[in-house]
Amino acid sequence: MSKTYYVTTPIYYPSGKLHIGNTYTTVLCDTLKRYKALRGYDTFYLTGMDEHGKKIETVANDRNIAPIDHVTEIAEETRALWDKLRISYDDFIRTTEKRHKTVVQKIFEQLLEQGDIYLGTYKGYYCMPCESFYTETQLDENNTCPDCGRETSQLEEESYFFKLSKYQKRLLQFIENNPDFITPETRKNEVVAFIKQGLNDLSVSRTTFDWGIKVVSNPKHVVYVWIDALSNYISALGYGTDQNQLFTKYWEGDEVVHVVGKDILRFHAIYWPIMLMALDIPINFKLHAHGFYMMKDGKMSKSKGGVIYPDTILKYYGLDELRYFLLRELPYGSDGVFTPETFVERINFDLANDFGNLLNRTLSMINKYFDGYIELNEEAETDFDKDLQQTIKDVIANYKENMNTLKISQALQEVWRLISRSNKYIDETMPWVLAKDEAKKNELENVLYHLVESLRHIGILLRPFLLEATPALFQQLAVEDQFTTWESMQFGDKKSYHVVKKPVPLFPRLDVEEEVNRLKEDISGKPKEEPVEETPEITIEDFVKLDIVIGQITECKTHPDADKLLVSQVNIGRGETRQIVSGIAKHYKPEELIGKKVLVIKNLKPVKLRGVLSSGMLLAGSNKETLEVITSEKLNPGDIVK
Ligand code: MSP
Repeated sequence: MSKTYYVTTPIYYPSGKLHIGNTYTTVLCDTLKRYKALRGYDTFYLTGMDEHGKKIETVANDRNIAPIDHVTEIAEETRALWDKLRISYDDFIRTTEKRHKTVVQKIFEQLLEQGDIYLGTYKGYYCMPCESFYTETQLDENNTCPDCGRETSQLEEESYFFKLSKYQKRLLQFIENNPDFITPETRKNEVVAFIKQGLNDLSVSRTTFDWGIKVVSNPKHVVYVWIDALSNYISALGYGTDQNQLFTKYWEGDEVVHVVGKDILRFHAIYWPIMLMALDIPINFKLHAHGFYMMKDGKMSKSKGGVIYPDTILKYYGLDELRYFLLRELPYGSDGVFTPETFVERINFDLANDFGNLLNRTLSMINKYFDGYIELNEEAETDFDKDLQQTIKDVIANYKENMNTLKISQALQEVWRLISRSNKYIDETMPWVLAKDEAKKNELENVLYHLVESLRHIGILLRPFLLEATPALFQQLAVEDQFTTWESMQFGDKKSYHVVKKPVPLFPRLDVEEEVNRLKEDISGKPKEEPVEETPEITIEDFVKLDIVIGQITECKTHPDADKLLVSQVNIGRGETRQIVSGIAKHYKPEELIGKKVLVIKNLKPVKLRGVLSSGMLLAGSNKETLEVITSEKLNPGDIVK
């Protein structure tokens, strides 16, 4: 019976369009699944959506639609995207599905009954504008929000807690006994250090919103996201139901791998194994936490612009170009950067030149010198041949080692080592010189046979990576299916080749300047139709509540503790000066503002922003590119605006 292999991606939040960062994880898992299938494993690949939580509820409310309609729309878009990318997932789980909910409810009740979950009080701080909760230690001085610097309000809420602390020792022991449980090593070290600081019990329910799975025994609580989300890995397999054949087969099978980004390492390396320990479910999985794809100027985020989407790449280039770039460019254990320049270079150098030309040159020569037909000729072996054969063997061994340890970029580098070696072999053996001497016909045939066999091996190694180019390669070399298997990777296994007459380039060469510009335009997100923001109607009574006056800026400095903020002294007439903190430092140097007559909301409740008092607000207008403080020319400090 074949060994089993179960691989999962994180389930994604339906909070926006998925970018190439999320695509990376999904493509990586797809490649792993295809590799294991090539090695004869019985595989199962799970992906899906994490659809509950306050944020999703808010996004749906903002769109004026029911949360379930919002998440269904995004789930359908996501599935369509994965289908377009030919992701070979076997199941797509959504946490709003009944099959998932019943399992989560059962798990929660069991943990409650066992006393691993208990009812307590959650103390936190809430920042209204950011809609985020913070613990006391996360806050800035004066208990202000660590993100925006505004005041937070303290909040006490009844909540269920999971006794993580009870399992701390056992978890450390487990990690020690299973040194390859978490890869890369550096991530494992982070996790161990974190556990050693001591684990706090985890709040696992909420009463302040509805969009979640209800706690059966106390339905005013919904299960807070992580117990809900993590359970997907087993609920999808039917754990806890009488339809649990997949659970028995894959979870309790031979290999289980959770692939996640470094951002959610802790949840998977700590909460998840502890949940499994508490439920007495075997911890069979290995955890791989990869780095992030960044844009040149920083992080990619679903809500921020300046991001590259897989659709863009697919619109202009092929699926294999996207897959190759993503898997090749992210180094093991660290972050990678997407830039239009590196993308175009990778296609031109690696795919079009090195790989594409090797195939082209080989096929052309076989057609030119042998009318398309060559055979293995064991007598004519040279030192160059032996070296090439040895490279093939070494590359296969290293590729295997790298794939098994999830060093995917290195596995690709190994294949390219064989491609380079084969190109060099052409230069060394100089077939065009051999062709001039009829007595060297055997030697020439042997050289071309070596090249074509090497290409067949390259094709097999690239099968999990390149979904369109490898069948095209095999078709041009006229390789029968039986010689495209892992087991057929023996030099000389296929004894003769009858190749196609006209080679077709696998990857067209790109015009660097044109393509770089095209991608840059797309990334910068040139003016697209912006949805008009709907704001609630107000009455004139609402408006007159605002006390807006002209003020003149007399002094301005950058905030001592926040790069984004400026602190201005503003003369608002009648001898009164106000100190106002504004988030405009990206658009103005302090000295540019001095002397400007601006519009000030005078009766806004004073707040401390990062420790500096702000009594009022400056009015400014903005669009995607810029922000401008609204100024007046003729009016004087204290004049009223209405
Ligand atoms: N819903 C949770 C996961 C729950 S799993 C039980 C979540 N979702 S998410 O939509 O934010 O997706 C997170 C995952 O997307 C990351 O862990 C990572 O795998 C992937 N990536 C998101 N941005 C990425 C990059 N910029 N680069 C690489 N991967 C990225 O967290």
